[in-house]
Amino acid sequence: MLRVAVLGAGRIATIHAANVAAHPDATLVLVADPWRAGVDALSAQLGCEAVYDCNAALARDDIDAVVIGTPTDTHIDLMLAAVTRGKAVLCEKPIDLDIAKARAAADHVERQGGRVMLGFNRRFDPDMLRLRQGIDAGQIGAVRQVIITSRDPGLAPREYLAHSGGILRDMTIHDFDTARHLLGEEPTQVSAIASRLVDPSLEEIDDFDSVMVLLRTASGKQCHINCCRQAVYGYDQRVEVSGALGVLLTDNHRPSTLRHWSAEHTEALEPLQHFFLERYAEAYRNELGAFIQALTAGTALPTGVRDGLYALQLADCALESIRTGRVVASGLSGA
Ligand SMILES: NC(=O)c1ccc[n+]([C@@H]2O[C@H](COP(=O)([O-])OP(=O)(O)OC[C@H]3O[C@@H](n4cnc5c(N)ncnc54)[C@H](O)[C@@H]3O)[C@@H](O)[C@H]2O)c1
Repeated sequence: MLRVAVLGAGRIATIHAANVAAHPDATLVLVADPWRAGVDALSAQLGCEAVYDCNAALARDDIDAVVIGTPTDTHIDLMLAAVTRGKAVLCEKPIDLDIAKARAAADHVERQGGRVMLGFNRRFDPDMLRLRQGIDAGQIGAVRQVIITSRDPGLAPREYLAHSGGILRDMTIHDFDTARHLLGEEPTQVSAIASRLVDPSLEEIDDFDSVMVLLRTASGKQCHINCCRQAVYGYDQRVEVSGALGVLLTDNHRPSTLRHWSAEHTEALEPLQHFFLERYAEAYRNELGAFIQALTAGTALPTGVRDGLYALQLADCALESIRTGRVVASGLSGA
């Protein structure tokens, strides 16, 4: 049994802790968070130890692997401390908000031979897994264009947004990873536009709520990401990949396939699954399963610290393009 500690007792850590506790090949030893009431409640619910200091949790010998679900500005310090103590890490996105710090951390992890997986959960969504399998099986031939729609149901609270690192590093970061994952080549050119169409007062925190990003790889493959902090009809998550032999599409999820016909409308469907915790519940489960499976089998982790770094690099390039109005060279290369 893999002995796992979950750092954090907030929104995402609660999901990871429950998935560890339910996994047949893992034991949830502890959850750690300075928020005593939160960690006490979570540990009581899942039947594990409550620890109030993440570094104390990392110092323990009875932990093989840690899941980092704490605020973004704590990720790298906790990751490096865990790697130094020989523990494997599943770290939430984004790796950090500062590219130089992320690059130094990636170098450090690799020098130490650390096992770090970045939590880009959307790769493990069943729809995305099928889509990727379809590409690999040659169903659409060579990939030409990827179109990603990613819209949240509504603006997060201002306090969250002010510390989020901005829409590109906090939210579109998922889509940059999806783009890399599906294009199969690194995007080398980045251009982007951004607006404040939902809340003009976001200018006070130098952020935007609506962005469109174009990516191009060295061989000419293209990706269009459209990302918005608000969609009044719900959490809108769609991906389209076109290739030489066809198109693969993933669509939104609803609680059921029920359709309502009446005097006022036809084909009325139930609302979309509300937000990420519901929409990606299976993706988080699969992600954790892939982490545990790779560690127990001694095989390569499906994502690594460089995936976190490269997604952040693309976010920074998009921001530069927004500020300068120019197409920006990403500095990434190769397949
Ligand atoms: N992959 C995804 O879909 C996804 C979804 C949500 C959040 N996230 C990421 O997960 C991370 C946490 O987000 P969240 O929404 O769960 O936040 P949250 O605020 O709900 O939870 C964060 C927890 O960390 C604790 N904490 C605060 N300071 C700490 C410190 N210095 N050391 C240790 N713990 C500390 C808080 O007490 C809190 O319980 C962020 O990096 C976020 O970007 C990823």
